[in-house]
Amino acid sequence: MHVLCLVFLILGFSTCQSSSLWNETYPKGEVVRVEDMNVYTVGNKANSAKDLSIIVFHDIYGFNITQTRVFCDRLAAEYEVQVVMADFYRGNTLPTTVPHFIAWLAQVGNWSQVSTDLRTIATWLRKTSSPSRRIAVIGFCWGGLQVARACSNLSDLFFTGVSIHGAWLTEDEVKNLQRPVLFIAAGDDPPLRPNISTVIEQSANSQVSGQCQYETYANMKHGFVSAGANYSNLENVAAINQVHESVRTFLSKISKSSSSITSYSACILLCLLFVFDLCQ
Ligand SMILES: *[C@@H]1O[C@H](CO)[C@@H](O)[C@H](O)[C@H]1NC(C)=O
Ligand SMILES: *[C@@H]1O[C@H](CO)[C@@H](O)[C@H](O)[C@H]1NC(C)=O
Ligand SMILES: *[C@@H]1O[C@H](CO)[C@@H](O)[C@H](O)[C@H]1NC(C)=O
Ligand SMILES: *[C@@H]1O[C@H](CO)[C@@H](O)[C@H](O)[C@H]1NC(C)=O
Ligand SMILES: *[C@@H]1O[C@H](CO)[C@@H](O)[C@H](O)[C@H]1NC(C)=O
Ligand SMILES: *[C@@H]1O[C@H](CO)[C@@H](O)[C@H](O)[C@H]1NC(C)=O
Repeated sequence: MHVLCLVFLILGFSTCQSSSLWNETYPKGEVVRVEDMNVYTVGNKANSAKDLSIIVFHDIYGFNITQTRVFCDRLAAEYEVQVVMADFYRGNTLPTTVPHFIAWLAQVGNWSQVSTDLRTIATWLRKTSSPSRRIAVIGFCWGGLQVARACSNLSDLFFTGVSIHGAWLTEDEVKNLQRPVLFIAAGDDPPLRPNISTVIEQSANSQVSGQCQYETYANMKHGFVSAGANYSNLENVAAINQVHESVRTFLSKISKSSSSITSYSACILLCLLFVFDLCQ
């Protein structure tokens, strides 16, 4: 009897020791200062084979949310890239009453500020890694809307984006899309099809619209990957695993096709030069 207890005790102890906490599975990054912003950076920026960095937009709960940080840590570790998340709200978190909330969001989260911040971060990333560094954007909730805007109005900086349970994603916000986006929605988000997908199919060029993807996690609630993630809930954990897999697959697919386009254009250019040379 006593021996059995002891065995259980030892077994229990060793399982405790070997399985680390969910928030401690992946290596952590550090907060650095970029102009007037704090930026969390994690992962190896020197992976020249990929030559890729990812900017993450936090949700309305801001920069200090463990679930959102862990998303960055995991993506950096599994995909072997540098992932950075800026404190777009500059130390603010959301106020608790609705009228204040709307005014606050217009102040801290407006596009003129965010687009300036994005230029700053992109410049810093290319200066500290390589000038040819390609950059993708990923955002949650409020940040999911910023992804649509960045892939519309800052398509010179970013080659693709992933919008995860994006908020306020209207038809208007996607009608100037210039880069392919993976849209991920929860079951209680406004449906992505038909409205969003139809507008994109009608207005974006066929290469962009053909590469956009739409995924809905019907059994999940808004926020399930960032501040609303519940790591004690097995279904939620399974959905997050699936999101990570989708994100990596999508980024690889778009990376491949955008680099083949580049080499294709280079080839055409070379051919043209060659023809030009012959004619002279
Ligand atoms: C992980 O969570 C535990 C329990 O909430 C906390 O004590 C610990 O500091 C966290 N670790 C990190 C690296 O955030
Ligand atoms: C985030 O955490 C840091 C360090 O713990 C703290 O100084 C800062 O005030 C926090 N910011 C917010 C918005 O909670
Ligand atoms: C946008 O944000 C900046 C910086 O927070 C602020 O100065 C500006 O007034 C905001 N614009 C609007 C329209 O709220
Ligand atoms: C993006 O650019 C388009 C066209 O220049 C403009 O109509 C639209 O208002 C811009 N969107 C934002 C969010 O600034
Ligand atoms: C989709 O478009 C229809 C027709 O314009 C509109 O009635 C409906 O509210 C829209 N749905 C969403 C989720 O935006
Ligand atoms: C998280 O999920 C667990 C298991 O389903 C549940 O017992 C708990 O209430 C959930 N926590 C929150 C904050 O929803």
